[in-house]
Parts: sequence; C-alpha cells; structure tokens
Amino acid sequence: MRKPSLLMVCCALTLTLVGCNTSNQNEAEEADNKPAETETEQRTETPADVPKDTEDEVVEEAPAPEAEPPAEDKPAEDKPSEEPATDEPEGEEKPVAEAPPVEEPAQTPSEPLEQNGTANLKLDTLILVNKQIALPAGYKPNDLVTANIDFVDTASGERRMLRKEAAQAIEKLMAGAKTAGIDLKGTSAFRSYDYQVQLFNAYVAKDGKEQAMKYSAPPGHSEHQTGLAIDVSSASVGYQLTQSLEQTKEGKWLADNAHKYGFIVRYQRAYEAETGYMFEPWHLRYIGVEHATNVHKTNVPFERYLEQSMN
Ligand code: DAL
Ligand code: ZN
Repeated sequence: MRKPSLLMVCCALTLTLVGCNTSNQNEAEEADNKPAETETEQRTETPADVPKDTEDEVVEEAPAPEAEPPAEDKPAEDKPSEEPATDEPEGEEKPVAEAPPVEEPAQTPSEPLEQNGTANLKLDTLILVNKQIALPAGYKPNDLVTANIDFVDTASGERRMLRKEAAQAIEKLMAGAKTAGIDLKGTSAFRSYDYQVQLFNAYVAKDGKEQAMKYSAPPGHSEHQTGLAIDVSSASVGYQLTQSLEQTKEGKWLADNAHKYGFIVRYQRAYEAETGYMFEPWHLRYIGVEHATNVHKTNVPFERYLEQSMN
C-alpha cells in the first residue's frame, strides 16, 4: 500500500482542525441564541396570558355584584340600630388548639324534622330550619353564650352569641385556623326574631322581596335564630361577606376544615336550587363533628342528609 505523503497528512490535519472550529462556532452561536429564544417565548406567552387571566377574572367576577348580599351581611351596614360596641367585652384569646374537638358518636335523627312547617326543637343541634320550615315564634335558645373569638367591631351584644356547644366549637375552629395561619373573624352569630324582622323588611324595601329572599331568610326562617349559625370573614376581603371569600386561602381553609370542628358551609353553590339561597361561603352551621364530616363527604344539602339518615 502507498504511504501518505507529508503534504497529504498536513492537508488532512488542517481539514480536521477547520471542521472542529466550525462545529464549536455553531455550538457557541446556538448558546448565544438561547436567551433570545427564551425571550421570544416569554414575549409570546405574556400577551396571551394577560388578557386570558383578565378575561377569566371578568367572567368569574361578573355575577358577583348580583350575587353578593347588600347591607345585611356587610359589617358596617349590617344592623339598622347598632348596639354600642362597648356592650360586649372583647374576649381574651383562647390558647391554640392542636386537635379538633372530640364528639359523641352521631345519632341518627329518629324525630320528624318538622310539624306543619314548624321546626322540631327535639332535634337539638340537628334542628332543621329553611325556607319551608320556621322556628316557633319567639324561639330563643336558653344556652346562648358569647363566643370567645375575634369579631368585627360592628358585631356586638347578642350578635356575638351562640349556643354553648357551638360557641366552644367555633372557638376551637378559630384556634385551629390561627395555627394554620388563617385569619378569620366572626361577623354575626345569633339573630333574634325581632332583628330578623328589621333586617328582612329593610332588604325587601331595598331590593324587592324576590331578590331579598335569595340572600336573607324571612323572620323565623333564619338559622341564625337557632344559635347554631355564624358568619365569618377574613381581612383578605375586608371582612365583608362576599362570594370572593371562596377564592381566598381563608375561604378554602374553611371549605376544607370547618367539618372537623362540627360546622358545615350550609349554602353551597351547588345547592342553590335546593336551598333557595345563593352561595354563602361565610355561613357556618354547627351540627357536630360526625354529622358535619358526613355532610362534607357526601356533599349534599343538610336537608337531604337528614332525610337520607332517617331512611
Ligand atoms: N343569609 C341567610 C340565609 C340568613 O339570612 O339566615
Ligand atoms: Zn349567615
């Protein structure tokens, strides 16, 4: 075989070296291009994302003004004749509770839910009050106590009260929330029959009966009169009772954890047709841990849960 000449060897070496340089140069060019490509990608994504988010917000928020309750649930206008804030001493803060309360095993209600449209008081913490079922006229629980939790300043007097068992449960819920970094305050708890008359009449005058009925119970029909219901809200929504509470971490925490303390978010979006009330992520109803956990798991309105439990 013919040996390669020195000239051929040199040529081959030169060609190899040139090839290497070209390939390195290409890599370097690619590397230089990367930030530019990323920038281009980002620029392309940004305009597409911004209007999309904005649009989503608009779509989600559009129904809110209609759906939000007017004065009733908004602390500043909540009460036609406000009691002085000094009526009720601010409660001392409770020690933080690590574990949710332990409850007696749930009893299946063996009592009728109502008689001729009047709620059956024997159901105790499972008492059912809704648009069809009213409390007996003038009913007022005999074990109301002031709940030792933070309330908005405008909530005073009886509006800080709950039945003893529910008050203890909301104190534990608030302590559990605090431990989880969730800031909540009570805005309104017990409502007497007379106070419901004032509120409901004011809302009918403002919005008309049909509209008022979507967010305010007619006198005698409010769960707040049972002493087992409380409205809560957070600083993130200015302590207003607004459906946007649902999107806040506080609203999400409530939806995920209230049952562990014996409360249900009574008026869910999915139950609007059945309950007749708009979605109220702030309205908590005490029914005890086991029942609340069952309602949370089965995700049915309280009335349906009671009917199913009795069958
Ligand atoms: N907002 C609820 C339905 C009530 O008035 O009790
Ligand atoms: Zn309420």
